[in-house]
Amino acid sequence: MAPQGMTIAVTSPVDSQSRTDRQWAVETHGLVKRFGNNVAVNGVELLVPRGCAFGYLGPNGAGKTTLIRVLLGLTRADAGTMSLLGHPVPQQRAVALARVGAIVDEPRFHGHLTGRQNLQILAAAREREARDRIAPSLERVGLQHRANDKVSKYSMGMRQRLGVAACLIGDPELLILDEPMNGLDPAGMHEMRDMILSLVAEGRTVVLSSHLLDEVERTCDAVAIVDRGNVIRQGTISDLLAGASVELQIDCSEPDRAKGLLESTKIGASIEVGPRGLDAKLPLGTGREAIAEVNRQLVEAGISVYRLQEVQASLESWFLQVTSRLGGAE
Ligand SMILES: Nc1ncnc2c1ncn2[C@@H]1O[C@H](COP(=O)(O)OP(=O)(O)OP(=O)(O)O)[C@@H](O)[C@H]1O
Ligand SMILES: [Mg+2]
Repeated sequence: MAPQGMTIAVTSPVDSQSRTDRQWAVETHGLVKRFGNNVAVNGVELLVPRGCAFGYLGPNGAGKTTLIRVLLGLTRADAGTMSLLGHPVPQQRAVALARVGAIVDEPRFHGHLTGRQNLQILAAAREREARDRIAPSLERVGLQHRANDKVSKYSMGMRQRLGVAACLIGDPELLILDEPMNGLDPAGMHEMRDMILSLVAEGRTVVLSSHLLDEVERTCDAVAIVDRGNVIRQGTISDLLAGASVELQIDCSEPDRAKGLLESTKIGASIEVGPRGLDAKLPLGTGREAIAEVNRQLVEAGISVYRLQEVQASLESWFLQVTSRLGGAE
């Protein structure tokens, strides 16, 4: 039986001319995909810089897999334009996909064949150099010692790694991985994360979809947050977090007077007196200057400040803030 695998292997020859220096690894404008009345991808504008790990983050049913399937030409968009590595698709799909490795849903292979044999079949459909990349790719994903075992004997984590090896035999500039952490235990997630980071360190771009906020935060440089087909925010993680409310812990003398003082200023902080001093929440969009202003107000009022620390908001709390402002995530 032929695998229904979505590991993309395109036979068009790769030459240096197919490389392009355009800025974006993935660019979409007004991309729409409907299933009847259900708009799975709703006017998506996506700009994925080259050479980064980019997370497409959203809850179940947000339209992540659908977007990836549209990008890869596995299903047709109803509206909009897109390009991969600077090549418009679907017009130049073969040229673009020759430099793209992708895993959609979970990678599927011939279970009765070995890992190596599966890669040999995929390499046979590609340029000559692909065969030479089988051994290094297996080694790269840590499967060299299990390469001659049947895939039916592989664990989920090993299948995921074989999926990445299958991508690597095409020496891709762009990898698109749909939920690469799915089904992996914590150690497997850790390995996958390291592998993604090392692929990015080589100058490749990795786009991954995930509903795991924590994993995206740890793995990706930039992120698009998608909910019900709509990208509601995108940017670097540090920029997105800069738009979150700032939380401060303040250890000072006279905490009750400090609380009253800070609440009466135009900073707009909401303050609680906790066991470790004051917990101050500054409003959304507050810049670093507001932190200095908090310190100034206290000191000028004769309150001693022993410690003033910014609490790093996690992407998760930011995500919850954004989605609750928009009426609640699923
Ligand atoms: N082939 C299809 N036919 C009809 N509806 C579909 C089809 N594929 C997806 N959908 C619908 O499109 C929406 C988005 O689905 P999609 O699989 O893209 O979400 P997802 O973000 O990948 O979710 P998950 O996290 O569960 O993988 C859902 O409402 C889903 O029911
Ligand atoms: Mg999905």
